[in-house]
Amino acid sequence: MCGIMGYVGPQQAAPILLDGLRRLEYRGYDSAGVAVTNGKIDVRKAEGKIDRLADLLESEPLAGTIGIGHTRWATHGEPSDLNAHPHTDPTGEFVVVHNGIIENFQSLREELAGEGHVFTSETDTEILAHLVAREYRGDLESAVRSAVAKAEGAYALVVMTKREPGKIVAVRRISPLVVGLGEGETFLASDIPAVLHRTRRFLIVEDGEMVIVTEAGARIEEIAGGAVDREVLYIDWDAEQAEKGGFEHYMLKEIHEQPAVVTETLGGRLDEDGTAWLEDVHFDDDFARNFSRLWITACGTAYHAGLVGKEIFRRLLRIPTNVEYAHEMRYADPLVSSNHLTVAISQSGETADTLAAARLTKERGSRLLALTNVVGSTLAREADDILYTRAGPEISVASTKAYLAMLIAQYLLALRIGRVRGVVDEELAARVAHGLSLLPAHVEELLHHDDEVLAAAESIVDADDVYFIGRGLDYAVAMEGSLKLKEISYLHSEAMPAGELKHGTLALVTKDTPVIVVLTQQALYDKTVSAVQEVKARGGRVLAVAYEDDEQIHKFAHRVLRIPRADDLLGPVAAVIPLQLLAYHVARLRGHDIDQPRNLAKSVTVE
Ligand code: G6P
Repeated sequence: MCGIMGYVGPQQAAPILLDGLRRLEYRGYDSAGVAVTNGKIDVRKAEGKIDRLADLLESEPLAGTIGIGHTRWATHGEPSDLNAHPHTDPTGEFVVVHNGIIENFQSLREELAGEGHVFTSETDTEILAHLVAREYRGDLESAVRSAVAKAEGAYALVVMTKREPGKIVAVRRISPLVVGLGEGETFLASDIPAVLHRTRRFLIVEDGEMVIVTEAGARIEEIAGGAVDREVLYIDWDAEQAEKGGFEHYMLKEIHEQPAVVTETLGGRLDEDGTAWLEDVHFDDDFARNFSRLWITACGTAYHAGLVGKEIFRRLLRIPTNVEYAHEMRYADPLVSSNHLTVAISQSGETADTLAAARLTKERGSRLLALTNVVGSTLAREADDILYTRAGPEISVASTKAYLAMLIAQYLLALRIGRVRGVVDEELAARVAHGLSLLPAHVEELLHHDDEVLAAAESIVDADDVYFIGRGLDYAVAMEGSLKLKEISYLHSEAMPAGELKHGTLALVTKDTPVIVVLTQQALYDKTVSAVQEVKARGGRVLAVAYEDDEQIHKFAHRVLRIPRADDLLGPVAAVIPLQLLAYHVARLRGHDIDQPRNLAKSVTVE
């Protein structure tokens, strides 16, 4: 959802900006552009994929060592060459790129139009270029300050002017922005992986801050004025982690990274006896023993991880637990109060709705725990406690390894709390710890059964609708399996609790309708099989995900994807792997852009 790049240094800026924008592609975009200053400001921009911009730069090159770049995900105005960023003021002396939404843009546009300003695009961003130019009195920082003082909404805004060459000024309100510190060169980007191959030293720009970037480095100040002393963050991710590593798609690579991800997420955090050590979870035993309610809030795949978490917490901790879509919770006046714990789950740690819901719970006195994959993300910085998933950068829009890591992290959290509360005894803790320790091997084994999943994919590739069912934890996994399938294959798919099928959706099951059943919960096995029988009786085609030693399943299902036998509590972890692969293969057979599905963005940083 919009990517930002900036460069000041001795090298030609355009190739560096283009390279960074490619690394930000995963955020989702529909046009791209760059601008450089070199005595004057030159802009090149184009609707569509970055390759179109690259072609344009080939035929009309840009010379200059200071520049800004942008990938745009349309909010105001259709995707087009004109609406693409960067945007300039009418004199062409000021240029901006922007991630976010200016909520009062209509009134600002009218005000400027009243003063004679003429606009060339339909965007909210162009207004910012005009405003900065209008406010300029010989000092870019002051001009940006007074321009953003008039703007309401969310933004990361990056500005250059030919009047002050050698400098880029950026401000952040909500939308993410980082500075990469090189040797005699400085980078700006929406996130760390965009420039991680160029430097490992970063400054994170926080909400309400301005950064002034030159080739010598960067200075952070409050937008309101006042110096900020920000510590340099050293990032030790392997840059290779952000590349495709030989796989056809990032999604497949990330699916295959999962055995290692489980090991990483668990690393150094779990003793054999089930004692969990969570380095950034700071609450004391008193709090762990006494908090009275648990809230989980998230969006998308992270929400589905929360559905699994709810079951884990309910079963292991016996604490009342709500799991809420963040975009619902933020407006629902939830009954959150002190003595509650909120777990906000977000791969990116930047999802606007999740941040808003998390902040609301904090305001109401809840303790806030960030369960996130991105070190130094906004969610992590605002939380009282952090549980990093350690899945490494996830590039594919459809989340896989981050989801799995979110599940593992929630088992760890449940053990940490459950042992203190005395509700998870030694035997149960050791059993869960043992089950977790087997998971990397189980996940690895599942990746070797790709051919069976491919055959299953071929059997549903031409379907119009697919239904997923399960009970309890299996239902939670079914939700994620269904989301994976629909988001990349564009097949219509729905998931529901198995018992709900006959209350409506069964009317849609006819001859050969694919119904995918997840069947790991042994206590509910017969109940789920009853729903499967209802499907079979209507001619539906049943695909089951079941344990390898389940000998009855062939009586009910047309096709079975086997998973290693595990403790039922951990069943979902293995069960999701064939569902991820199934979605991948169906999408591939249908010839879709797997890593960047249409209309979707990796990181939704506006409401
Ligand atoms: C977008 C992505 C999803 C993701 C969701 C929440 O919709 O396409 O894959 O699950 O945002 O993102 P988060 O970064 O908060 O986990």
